[in-house]
Amino acid sequence: STIQMELHEIMKGSFPHFMKKEIFEQPESIKQTMRGRILNGSEVHLTGVREHMSDIRKSTRLIFVASGTSYNACMASRQILEELSEIPVIVELAGDFMDRLCPIFRSDVVAFVSQSGETADTLDALKYARKHGAMCMGIVNVVGSSISRLTDFGVHLNAGSEIGVASTKVYTSQIVVMVMIALELSADSKNKSARRIAILQGLRELSANIEKTILLVDEHVQRIADQLADDRSILCFGRGYHYATCVEAALKIKEVAYIHTEGINAGELKHGPIALVDENLPIVVFSSMDLTAVKVQSAIHQLLARGVRQRLIVVCSESDTQMLELVASREGVDVIKVAHTVDCLQSVLSIIPMQLLSYYLAVARKLNVDCPRNLAKSVTVH
Ligand code: G6P
Repeated sequence: STIQMELHEIMKGSFPHFMKKEIFEQPESIKQTMRGRILNGSEVHLTGVREHMSDIRKSTRLIFVASGTSYNACMASRQILEELSEIPVIVELAGDFMDRLCPIFRSDVVAFVSQSGETADTLDALKYARKHGAMCMGIVNVVGSSISRLTDFGVHLNAGSEIGVASTKVYTSQIVVMVMIALELSADSKNKSARRIAILQGLRELSANIEKTILLVDEHVQRIADQLADDRSILCFGRGYHYATCVEAALKIKEVAYIHTEGINAGELKHGPIALVDENLPIVVFSSMDLTAVKVQSAIHQLLARGVRQRLIVVCSESDTQMLELVASREGVDVIKVAHTVDCLQSVLSIIPMQLLSYYLAVARKLNVDCPRNLAKSVTVH
């Protein structure tokens, strides 16, 4: 309606599109997500999770079910959930979960992650898990939505309404919530206390680090978008925490820029994808300063040996001196530096230049950023 259209214009404020507004809002939206949930800066408190803690601790599997970007957020959080809970964590695409009629038991806790809380595939999986007696948790943005009503307990994302069809600020809030859940699940573990303190510190500084990252990358990424705007295909590589980042980056570029982009685990490079690599194909590689660092460095060596120069973009933390040294002397390699944080939150910062890249690619290609063709904000039918 006209009133709704006018309202939208006002809400967009000085931003040309909701997508850009929502990307730039992230320093604030993740604050809202954490508000009232970190006590004295040193203890996570998620009421729903805490009330069901003994049942969750007794469960034999934690299963996260979602679609689209929400699925990628689960993938980004899987490692820290496993590390801190010490319970096997399984991440499932809702559609595939139902195609397989995945075996579910009373001893399972199943989490349903969704922005809208109305995605048909995810909702079907929830009904199925309930029928099999599993305890069901909701991680949902829209309060009062079907998924939040049908779950036994949950955590709202509190990211504020997201209007751009391509999810941005909700993705980062989902990771923050799942990291907080991981902290909550390890609250009584003494030998994890140093690790927990480091993560809480990372959460406290996250808003400032998102802001810093936006400032560091915004203009640079705009220039890169102009260089890539006519490309037909892009590959993104990452592993460990950044596997999800490369897949989500590819999804964003597909959704709004309509450029074929694949997110591939960097460990798989030699098992096939390296055959695609030539002088012309633009490649993005995400670097992490953890166990995967050396392996990603070796992937870069392999790519450089095949002449990817000119078309290689490396996304790394500004503290990643090893990676910065590796690519420093390489002419034509573009390095996007983001702020540095603890390993399990680094993906919140590394996705930001890619959200912006997809946005600026769409703008450069004169596409409808907020309403991409063929897509719906929430897919409520099959
Ligand atoms: C649709 C949207 C995606 C979204 C997915 C899951 O495909 O276009 O942006 O990630 O649904 O939505 P949900 O609301 O469940 O997070």
